[in-house]
Amino acid sequence: MPDNILNFSLADFFFNDNPDVLGAPSDFEEWMAHPAVRKGFSFFEQVLLEAPRVSTRILSNLDGREHRIINLTSYNYLGLSTHPEVIAASKAALDKYGLGSSGAPLLSGTLDIHVEFARRLAEFKGKEDCLLYSSGLGANVGAIQGIMRKGDYLIMDEKCHKSLVDGGTLSGAKMLFFAHNDLDNLQMMLEKAKGKRILVVVEGVYSMDGDLPKLPEILDLCEAYNAGSYIDEAHSTLIFGENGRGVAEHFGVEDRIGVSFGTLSKSFGGVGGFVCATKSLIRYLKGYSSAWNFSCAPSPAVTGGLMKALEVATRDSSLRDTLWANVSYLKKGLEGLGLDLGGSESHVIPIIIGPSGEKLMGYAGAMQKRGLFLQPVDFPAVPAHARRFRISVSSQLSREEMDETLTIIEDVIVKGAD
Ligand SMILES: Cc1ncc(COP(=O)(O)O)c(C=O)c1O
Repeated sequence: MPDNILNFSLADFFFNDNPDVLGAPSDFEEWMAHPAVRKGFSFFEQVLLEAPRVSTRILSNLDGREHRIINLTSYNYLGLSTHPEVIAASKAALDKYGLGSSGAPLLSGTLDIHVEFARRLAEFKGKEDCLLYSSGLGANVGAIQGIMRKGDYLIMDEKCHKSLVDGGTLSGAKMLFFAHNDLDNLQMMLEKAKGKRILVVVEGVYSMDGDLPKLPEILDLCEAYNAGSYIDEAHSTLIFGENGRGVAEHFGVEDRIGVSFGTLSKSFGGVGGFVCATKSLIRYLKGYSSAWNFSCAPSPAVTGGLMKALEVATRDSSLRDTLWANVSYLKKGLEGLGLDLGGSESHVIPIIIGPSGEKLMGYAGAMQKRGLFLQPVDFPAVPAHARRFRISVSSQLSREEMDETLTIIEDVIVKGAD
């Protein structure tokens, strides 16, 4: 391991030459043992002692003590994970069906609430049918692996989530990545793949930057090249669009989308994932999507709660409206502090710090000491020149909590207090 140990990151240890197949690379162990690297990793896997609300308690890795914190890292955007009606519905499902589904959906795991929830999700997304998975990652991996074959072309925005890439790897399709939201570059890729079966994959809200895809123009290109489209609305379902149906609704292009993916772990407040598409594709995936047909059906207790979460979030726009009011208040405050918020167009707001990992970790520690929990996002998750914090805005945030947040960020990041 050379002197400049801090120039290394998780991007550097993928290849493992340890003769012991069950051992980590030896230089990885050495790197992990370095005090600065250990300090950086201490920000991860900190244990929450209560529900992932905005106001919660943490067992801090920094001092080993319990602290009340303002939690701006959670994907519980609408507070549904602890909504009283959701909890009551989940408890009722738990009492009626038990904890687990105890079987793969194709064999013995399908319960009536799975069928009903999938039907409601398909109706919500304006598609013919829906497949429910036990995880969001599983849904992306399983759907892409089920749809694509060797010889096909999978063309993805370079900022697409790992689950989409892993699905592509598993499928054996040729994968091409276009520069983020770059239509000319996408067209070049489509030219390369011309004449083949092509699927273009984008996200609704890009999770590290909070920006949106140029969806209408991307769909124009898909149609010109006879390519199918797949949109990952993990961070946008229940939040974007007049009825909360997502970014496709926001742009008025829902009927032009081939496959609509959503996760149930973020704004829905539970866990799981789903894909909505034509009846024929969903029927086909039931045979060829391993994450669905070789994995246990979602927990009934979670499914019961999720069905209520969908109802609560869509019976009126109040949760969404509160979220957007909070986004606008916080963004205005952060812009007033002169911070670099990248190109965020959503409730995901990066605060870009720059190339210094040391600064990033220093700020993270100082903010946590003051009671603000904001995870540092380091390379390789984001480019090395644009290390950042990422605020996940919640509808649960009060004015006082937002003001407190802005004061701490100003003191630590703008004024350099520690
Ligand atoms: C864009 C995107 N897609 C898919 C997933 C996977 O969802 P889950 O965490 O529910 O498995 C995530 C999770 O972070 C995501 O950000």
